[in-house]
Amino acid sequence: MSIDLTTLVDLLNRDLELEYSAAIQYINHAAVMTGAENGDLIKELKIHANEEIQHAMLLADQIDYFDGSPSVAVGAINVSDDNREMMRQDLAGEEDAINRYKVRIDQAEQLKEFALSQQLRTILAMEQEHAMDLKQALGK
Ligand SMILES: [Fe+2]
Ligand SMILES: [Fe+2]
Repeated sequence: MSIDLTTLVDLLNRDLELEYSAAIQYINHAAVMTGAENGDLIKELKIHANEEIQHAMLLADQIDYFDGSPSVAVGAINVSDDNREMMRQDLAGEEDAINRYKVRIDQAEQLKEFALSQQLRTILAMEQEHAMDLKQALGK
C-alpha cells in the first residue's frame, strides 16, 4: 500500500497529539499512584513523561520540515484511581504507539525519507523500553 507525503504528515500529527496525551497521562499517573512498592515505577513514569515530550518535539520538527503545521491538539487521556489500572492504561498506550511507529517507519521508507525513519526508530526503541517497564511492574 503506497502513501503520499501529505497523508504521512497527517498521520505524524495524530502521533504528535498522542505524544502530548501520553506525557500528560504519565504526569497524572505519577502523581496519583500510591504505595511504597510502586516508588521505583513512579520515578520511571516521570522519566517517561519527559521522554514523551522529547518525542513530541522530534515529531513537531519533522512535521515542520515537511511543511506541515504541527498540531497542538491533545489525544485521549486515561485516568483511574487504581494503581494497576493506571499501569494497564499506560501499557495499552505504549503498545498502540509501538504498532503505530512500526507502520510509520515503513511508510517513511516507502517515501525514501530515511532521516524521518531514523528518528521514528529512535522513538520506537524508547516506546519498547517504556512498555517493558510497565510489563515488569504488572508482573507480565
Ligand atoms: Fe513517545
Ligand atoms: Fe512511551
